[in-house]
Amino acid sequence: MKITFIEYNGAVHVVEGEAGQSVMDLAVKHGIPGVVGDCGGACACATCHIHVDPRWLAATGEAGDMETSLLEFARDPDANSRLSCQIKVSPALDGLIVHLPESQY
Ligand code: FES
Repeated sequence: MKITFIEYNGAVHVVEGEAGQSVMDLAVKHGIPGVVGDCGGACACATCHIHVDPRWLAATGEAGDMETSLLEFARDPDANSRLSCQIKVSPALDGLIVHLPESQY
């Protein structure tokens, strides 16, 4: 399944992910700049903040309660903000596009 990461500066990275893998894991594994993932995916750090492309909001669904509270600590969160460790790659998300924030801190 193809996942596209677009950096703040416009650089585009398209990578292949496997079902069940988190979008954060995928980014870290491929060395995508801009996703840190300090807590390793435990929904405890907010350094995996991304913005879901508007066309993919319905498919990715809404942030859970814990994720929503953590997003308050992310830098410049908006209505499309998610923690990428909480989004799992699946066939329904094949083609997903996410935008990276300028910085995680
Ligand atoms: Fe820490 Fe996502 S990796 S909240």
